[in-house]
Amino acid sequence: MAGLDTLCYCISLLTAGCLAHLFPISTAHDRPVHLIALALTACSFALPGISKALPRLFHPAESRHEDYTALPLDDLGYVNRKPDPAETPSTHPRHNGKVRISVLVAAVSVVCVRLELYRRISMATECTIDSIEVFLPFLLAVYDAVRSQRARRLQEEERPDSSAYDALRATLRAHVLRPRTRYLIPMFLVSYGCYRILYLWDPVTSTYICPLVTGEGRIVPAMQVAALVLDLCLVITVYESSPKQDGKGLSPRRCVVLWSTVMIATAIVWSVVGVIVYIYMPEHRAWLSLLEPPLNFGDLMAITGHVLLFCLLCISSLHCIMVYGVAEMSLHLTAVMTMIPGLEFIWLHKSPFPPIPAFATTLSFFLVFFGRWSYHRIQQALGERDRSKPSRHMLLFIFLCVLLFPAWSKKSYVHFHPIDLLIYDAKIHHEEYLKALGNTTSLSETVTQYKQKYNRNPPPGFDVWFEYAKNRSALIVDEFDQIYEDLLPFRAIPPADLRRQTWEMVSNPWNEISGITIRSGKALVQENVLPTHRWMLEGVAVLINSFAQYLPDMDLAFNLNDESRVAVPYNDITFLREKGRSADESGRSGWSQDRAAGWLPIPEHEFTQTVFRDMSFRNTFRQYGSVGCSPSSLARRAPHISSHSHICGSCVRPHSIGQFVANWSDAADVCHQPDMADLHGFYLSPAAFKTSHQLMPVFSQSKPHGYNDILYPSAWNYMDKVVYAPSEEKGTRGQDDYHSSFPDLPFEQKENTLFWRGATSEGVSSGNGVWRGMTRQRLVHMANNITTSSHDRFTILLPNPSDHKKYKYQVLPGPAVKELGLKPDIAIVDRIARCGGVDCHDQESEVHLVPPTDFQAHWRYRYLFDLDGAGFSGRFLPFLQSRSVPFKTALFREWYDSRLTAWLHFVPQDSRLHGVWSTLAYFAGVNGTMFGQSIWWKPHLREAEIIAEAGREWAGKVLRKDDMELYFFRLLLEWGRLTDDRRDELGFDL
Ligand SMILES: *[C@@H]1O[C@H](CO)[C@@H](O)[C@H](O)[C@H]1NC(C)=O
Repeated sequence: MAGLDTLCYCISLLTAGCLAHLFPISTAHDRPVHLIALALTACSFALPGISKALPRLFHPAESRHEDYTALPLDDLGYVNRKPDPAETPSTHPRHNGKVRISVLVAAVSVVCVRLELYRRISMATECTIDSIEVFLPFLLAVYDAVRSQRARRLQEEERPDSSAYDALRATLRAHVLRPRTRYLIPMFLVSYGCYRILYLWDPVTSTYICPLVTGEGRIVPAMQVAALVLDLCLVITVYESSPKQDGKGLSPRRCVVLWSTVMIATAIVWSVVGVIVYIYMPEHRAWLSLLEPPLNFGDLMAITGHVLLFCLLCISSLHCIMVYGVAEMSLHLTAVMTMIPGLEFIWLHKSPFPPIPAFATTLSFFLVFFGRWSYHRIQQALGERDRSKPSRHMLLFIFLCVLLFPAWSKKSYVHFHPIDLLIYDAKIHHEEYLKALGNTTSLSETVTQYKQKYNRNPPPGFDVWFEYAKNRSALIVDEFDQIYEDLLPFRAIPPADLRRQTWEMVSNPWNEISGITIRSGKALVQENVLPTHRWMLEGVAVLINSFAQYLPDMDLAFNLNDESRVAVPYNDITFLREKGRSADESGRSGWSQDRAAGWLPIPEHEFTQTVFRDMSFRNTFRQYGSVGCSPSSLARRAPHISSHSHICGSCVRPHSIGQFVANWSDAADVCHQPDMADLHGFYLSPAAFKTSHQLMPVFSQSKPHGYNDILYPSAWNYMDKVVYAPSEEKGTRGQDDYHSSFPDLPFEQKENTLFWRGATSEGVSSGNGVWRGMTRQRLVHMANNITTSSHDRFTILLPNPSDHKKYKYQVLPGPAVKELGLKPDIAIVDRIARCGGVDCHDQESEVHLVPPTDFQAHWRYRYLFDLDGAGFSGRFLPFLQSRSVPFKTALFREWYDSRLTAWLHFVPQDSRLHGVWSTLAYFAGVNGTMFGQSIWWKPHLREAEIIAEAGREWAGKVLRKDDMELYFFRLLLEWGRLTDDRRDELGFDL
């Protein structure tokens, strides 16, 4: 029997640990209602089933305590049974309790309401407070003290005290063992220790908005309290109903019947309610539908796995409850389910960010351990439990110390500032880039470079392109990897198909894709373009016409929307790329004759077929955003991020040093960042998103990682839609002119402020609250603290107050930004755009609105933030050209991404925005108070100015309009070859 107990005990703790580890990241989360109903149903059958198959499992009271050595106790009203092995079964406690219908109904209602609370809380995790659920064991101990525990008089007390040690012992016994409150302190230690373990997550609070106008900042914590109360009710029911040695409670069999009935009844209630809601409340259908998001094999496995774990947990825990009691099991389960994620946190985070205070962390784990140990000691002293060998506790303690080791080995401060290091690295990286770029000056060298790099001859007309490049003193003539990467998969598609696909796309106006035709060296915009987008295509035509005379006849399909269009699933795109790579034949012939005939004219009547699907206004990350990632990547393996309240560590680690973006290109890779699904308007709820899983040759201005659009230089910049045009510095203007003249002053004379203005155009928030995750809103909210929410803390890297050579991450409350003397000026302009329902009002109250300003007013400020809108940000190039330093965060990347070096030409920022204050503090300096003490840190103006000037100079060399023309020219030569029926014979060679 003891073996069975131990087995069940281990299974119970193991499954609890597994669930604590797996559940938060599992896809099983997607269908909470289905999962719960299924798990409860399965368990309601498994419980009686296993109780039949293994009758011994739920008859624990027999001959268990035969060999313990109880202290001689004088019981007052508490019968501590010492069963005699010789006793016949008939003398075992008789359980006379009956399952009362009222209890059953109450239990079912409580479970149902509790599950609904769970669902609601998990939908608004950005508003939750630290889980107070961990106080459950303590509350249960309070109940136990009132209900069952009795004061005891201990015999030993009457013995004469022989020594000081004995005296102490006796006093301890008298004060700890005797009163009925004896278990309160150990239980409190466990609960409080668990609560302190949750502090580990403090430094990684997210910038996700918990709006106070909606009242959720108060309602959600209230729901958490209510959930705790309901849980207490449930645990008390378990407590009261479980079989006890004194004959109270139900018989084990009835107990099994009670709980399986509760479970099946809850499952039925939930299913019925679910069906009713599904039928009568269409707005809730999304999360009630079993097939949305689409169910695949992995999801099924995840659900089955969780159901199995849940059943195992229930069965083993029920057994253990009968053996060890509810209190002890609640203690163990709470400890395991808090400590496992806590230890994971300690093991996974290696750098000084997030800071893990070694002493406080160790202390909280030790509190849990000590609480559990003293609980057992008291039980042993009272004879309620076998005397387990002390070595077991010792082993456990050593094991815990080993597990806690990383918390001690981590430094809480850094000796160098990561930005210093990153700036240094960026210089080296750029020098290497320049070296790799070479300085080829002859056509033959460039052709050789091309052949080496791309394994085929350059396209026909390459000599003209080279001449063009030389005439415009282009710096970059060899490195066009973006073009190669973009076009590679299209090599696997026959030329005639590419031409047909282009025709199909532009022939159906619904697609929002329009064409430009190039005939006899002239680019013309297709007739039936939407009037609102006509300027854009005409701009593109102007750009093409600067070199169109050298191009063969062809058609192009341009994406009229900001959002990207083509996301090909991983297996398909890998296959296409492989195929494209192997098809690297090329020859020396020129363009085919009569290419024009290969392109069909736009039909008179609309063509109505399309491969695109309208996926606007919904979260598209899993269906489109991450389909290009390998199945082993985090975004595909564990796409679910359960909590909006904290930053996902494994999502930022691969591209960060501490809080800072260390690798700008890796930061664009969403494959390790499943949390991006809820952090960018494009994934959360795009405004115009017609998309395809099939590879189609669409030309777009920008795209996030994983999309397969073909990038081209945007007309937005080429046609000067936004332009860097500061007023001349006259030096005679007075203050009055301040608002009408916009000189770009030398860096030193600018205002020491981080500036951003913009609209809420990232995505559409039509009443479902998705604006809370959008980058623009998060930035504005974080900078202004219009309302402060429960999670309003930030972590900032500052010099150690006692030693300015070291830096330390400090966790501060939101309003401390102003106290430190950081001056952001960040606001939404005019009014809230792209909203619907309650979201318009909510946003108006939560984010900072100001009247519009002139774009040229930007140059007054030293630091300019640059954020994506619905697509790329057109302002970035003017920012780069200015004497200010651009801070940039971008999901959408453009044709020139590889030309720029982060930390040399601009300051990169993570989309989660958790490093903004640390970065600003580094450059702008700190002058204010922290924890009531004054703090001053020198601004790094020199470093900032170097970045401002380097970006300005480099943009003047490689991001000119000439460079846009050159990029597009080369792209179209390649596209011309791809769409030529003799593509494998075409090429240029000397
Ligand atoms: C970023 O990481 C990639 C590999 O993932 C590497 O090739 C590249 O050089 C890194 N860039 C920088 C700036 O370190």
